[in-house]
Parts: sequence; C-alpha cells; structure tokens
Amino acid sequence: MGRIKVRLITGKRIVVSEASRGQRLSRVLSEAGLPIKLYCQGRGICGRCFVEVKSECWPEESEAEKGLRLERRLRPGFRLACQLRLRQPLTVRIPDDLLLLPEIKKLPGGISPKRLYALRDFNPLVKKYVLQLSVKSQPGAESLLRTIKSGLGLKELAISPAASRKLKTRTVFSREFTAVIYDDRLLLDLEPGRGDDRILGLALDLGTTTVSARLLDLVEGKTLASASSANLQAAFGADLISRVGFAAGKPVHLQKLQRAALNSIARLTEALSFEARARTKMIYAVCLAGNAVMNHLFLKVPVDSLGSAPFKPAFLLHDPVPASEIGLRLNPLAMVFISPNLGGFVGGDITAGLIYTALADKPGNYLYVDLGTNGEIALKKGRTILVASTAAGPAFEGSGISCGLPAVPGAIEYVSWSESKFVYRTTGRQKPTGLCGSGLLGVLAESLKAGWLLPSGRITAGRPEIQVAPRLALTQPDIRKLQLALAAIKSGMRLLLRSSGLKWTELDGIYLAGVFGNSVDLAQCITAGLLPPLPLRKIIFAGNASLAGAGLMLLSQKARREALKLPARVQHISLAEVDGFQAEFLKALHLGRHYWRKNDA
Ligand code: FES
Repeated sequence: MGRIKVRLITGKRIVVSEASRGQRLSRVLSEAGLPIKLYCQGRGICGRCFVEVKSECWPEESEAEKGLRLERRLRPGFRLACQLRLRQPLTVRIPDDLLLLPEIKKLPGGISPKRLYALRDFNPLVKKYVLQLSVKSQPGAESLLRTIKSGLGLKELAISPAASRKLKTRTVFSREFTAVIYDDRLLLDLEPGRGDDRILGLALDLGTTTVSARLLDLVEGKTLASASSANLQAAFGADLISRVGFAAGKPVHLQKLQRAALNSIARLTEALSFEARARTKMIYAVCLAGNAVMNHLFLKVPVDSLGSAPFKPAFLLHDPVPASEIGLRLNPLAMVFISPNLGGFVGGDITAGLIYTALADKPGNYLYVDLGTNGEIALKKGRTILVASTAAGPAFEGSGISCGLPAVPGAIEYVSWSESKFVYRTTGRQKPTGLCGSGLLGVLAESLKAGWLLPSGRITAGRPEIQVAPRLALTQPDIRKLQLALAAIKSGMRLLLRSSGLKWTELDGIYLAGVFGNSVDLAQCITAGLLPPLPLRKIIFAGNASLAGAGLMLLSQKARREALKLPARVQHISLAEVDGFQAEFLKALHLGRHYWRKNDA
C-alpha cells in the first residue's frame, strides 16, 4: 500500500508525516506525536475534533460529517479528524485547543495534617542524614556503614549499586558525610560533607483519563504544588478495556502506552517543579497510586491477564523500582513505591484512598466509592473489606457526551433550576464551553426534580433535548450514557452490600472520591440516585483521596506498611459472577432515589 504525505500545522509548527492509504487522520496525528482529544471516542457524534483542510483536494465526507454539516455543526473548510480517511496528500491545520497536550490544571489542597497526626508517624520514604565519624574511627567503608547503622538505629541496611560504587572508590571518606536512606532499609547514596538538604517527593494518581500529581517537601511534610492533566494514553483508547486490548500480546504497543504515561507525568513534574521553584533532580521519591491497569502499564508489565476471565492482575504487591529504570527523569537515584493492587481492576488508587480515609480500621460499616472511568468500590463491614470494580466508562469525565468536558476552565461544574431556567457556575468563572461530571449530574438531578426527565431516562414530551446554556444541551443519547454510567456504580454498590448481607440503611457512612471536584452537590447525588438517601452528614466527600493517600504514603512509614498489608486483608468480588448481576443492573438504570427505596435489599 502506498504511503501518503501529510502536512500537519499546529501553532507555528509544521510536522510532515506519512500515512497509509485509508488511515484515519486522528490515528496519523497520534502517531506523529500530536494526539488530539476525541470527546466521543471518534464516533463522529460530538463534532468537536474538527481540523481545517488547507489543500485543494477534498476527500469524500463520511455520513457523520454530512449529518453534522446539515445541522450546521461543521463549518465549510473543516473536517472531522476522527472521520477523515487519507486518500491523497493533504495539509491540515489543527486548532491548538484540540491537541491533547494538556491543560495543566492546578489542584487545591494538600495532605491533611490531621491524618498525619492521627498516624503519629512522620517518616518520609527517603531521608537525608548528616553524620559524623567519631574521632577514633578510621575513615573507611566499614566505619561509615557502622556509623550509619548505629546512628539511625538500623539492624539491616542494603546498599544500592551507586552507594556501593562510592564506597569502593572511596569517594566519600570525609569525617562528615550525608547518607541518603530509602525507607529505613536501603542506603541509596552517600555525599561528602553536608549535601543539598532539599529533598522532594512526588505523589501520583495515574488515572485512565486524568493524571494528578502533588509535589511534597519530604523534610517539612508540606505540599508545595499540585496539578492534574490529561493522560496522553487516551490517544490509544478512552477506557481500560480498549487499552488492554491495544497492549495485550503486543510489546511494542505496551511500550507506547508506557511512554505516553511517562510523557504525561514528565509534563506535570516540570510544571510542579517550576511552581515550587525546585529542580526535578531534587525529587528522590515517588509514590504511584494507579488503577490496576495503569500500575501495569507504568511498569511495562504485560496486561494480558487483565484482558480475559478471570481478569487477574499480574501482581498485587510490587517491589519498589528505581525511577531511572522506568524512564522517569528525576534524581537519578529516585525510587518509586507502588501502591498495591487489590484485585482485577481494583488497583493502588483504591488502596491509597482506603489508607487516606483510614477506612480499614474505622468501627462501623462504610462504603468507599471512587468514581472514574473505572468505578472502584470498597465495602467495610466489621473487619471484612470487600472490593469490586465496575465499568462506569468515561461519561462523567465528559467523554462521549456531546457537550461533555473534563473539569477545565469554562466547564459548567454546578447547575440548579431556578425561576424556569438553569443557573450555572463554570470552572474558572469563564464563558461556558461544556459540562463536566458534577454539572452533568446536576442536570440529571434538577431535571428529575422539575419533572421533565422521567426516572426511565426519557426526556418528557415536547423537549428533544435538555438545554442548559446557549448551544449546550444534553441529548437523549447523552442521558442514556449517563444512565449506564450511574447504573454500573449503583448496581456495584448494591451487589457488594448484598454479598456482605448488609442493607444500605445499615451504613454508617459513604465516602465519595474521584472524578467530581469540590463543586459536587451531595444532595444532587442523592436526587439523581447515584447514592442511597442517607442523611447528608453520613456522606463524606473525599475528593481525590487516591492522590492524598499517595502523598500520605510518601510521608509515613506506618501508612506504607498498612497499604502493603491490605491485599491480604481484602476479598475481591467479581460482580459479573454474583447472582442477579444482570437483573440488578437493569433495575439500576432507573434514575432517582426511588431505586434505593423500592428495591431495598
Ligand atoms: S466527532 Fe470526532 S471525536 Fe467526536
């Protein structure tokens, strides 16, 4: 098959690439290192992946494009990147805001000092100690190691290859020296005299759609900066299943996904370091809390076992790994602590969230719900912890919804119905350009209350769509996708409750973590039927508990130990194998609080 030359113009850059005949432009862009946002996963529904065609020739339009052009949603001279198939050489201009190279969004908050205080353990993952050899000792490898062990009260101490080299070449044999220690068990490095005492840690929540990161000062325990941006892996598939399918059995694809994750992390790390006026070389420790698939892809561990029943991860616990081995450009000696997986599709992000909320040892019965592309749920009853995952899909992250957006400036994050119209608030108080998860949930709740959305999910007669703001409306297919996402989570909660013999009325609380930002209205969560109608004081908004938990594990050895014990303590439930799974899912398609009341277990 002949190769076709494509000129891709972005900002002031021109990239010349080659494509196979018939290849879609979106794929060509991704292979040229210019991945774009595919809001409806390239199905030609949202009409938002338009690019300007600068060539004379005009490749034939797809049916989706013709439809959008009839509806005047596609301007003359523009084509959809997800639909355009290449048949001849072409020049296209890609709008800047279509490129996936992410908006880096600052995140509020840090590690709650309360939680650290409750653990009574400030013991960062990597520490530096300035030590002195006693005057009686002869400077040498033996005396250095003896001084470190006795000075720090350690019985055992492994030695990294870098430290071992320095000991052999006698690089640090001065009376005063600095020892860099990982988790009180590994001598990472030795520096003569007093080394640079700035030592930073990077907490990471590697999600399917979004990567969030927090830079911490490991000496003072302070949060220096936090931010999130899109996971560049999205160019290879919007959800976990498509990425597992892409990588399974194909080491080259596995490597592409790892590289995309590392690029996302590198961009965030640079932005955070810039904000904190630090250098990336000061980062000695990383705690990764990703979902099970992300943990595999980050480490380039094959994901084949997650692609078919019984959907087992290749590992639950993983030894810490040198960041340089993975390809993270930090301090060359930096180490990565991996928050353990808890089962198929229940990953280190849930472990981190459970550690942060201290749920495992809280007396009483609690649900922990982490909403994301992959919904993860934990139920704690007495000493038992059950965990499960549900395929919620990326709808609440704005993907696949015609007017959906992640929580970027301009996204409607909150709506209410007042005086016969929607009143809304946007992120960054900018002009509305779409709706993010909390806004979408708000529209469902308010429309149900107003009576023009039925619990069946049908928009009532006379309204083809729900108009929220100028040129922003939820269509019937949008509502169906949101219904499916909600049903996956609701039925998951219900089946876990049933497996443990609990009723929702017996819950002492629900922690809601994940995709929704601070603007989520918990009462609207109940009205839409996402959560059971418990008193509001029992519903705790945990925000990005995975990121907070990863930060906590960087600062506390006790938190790390607790995390490592969790896989042996939890019981993983495969929801698809629970009796009545299908029936429960169908019931859960009903919107509103009625679902919980009517179908009380
Ligand atoms: S129309 Fe191309 S991604 Fe939606």
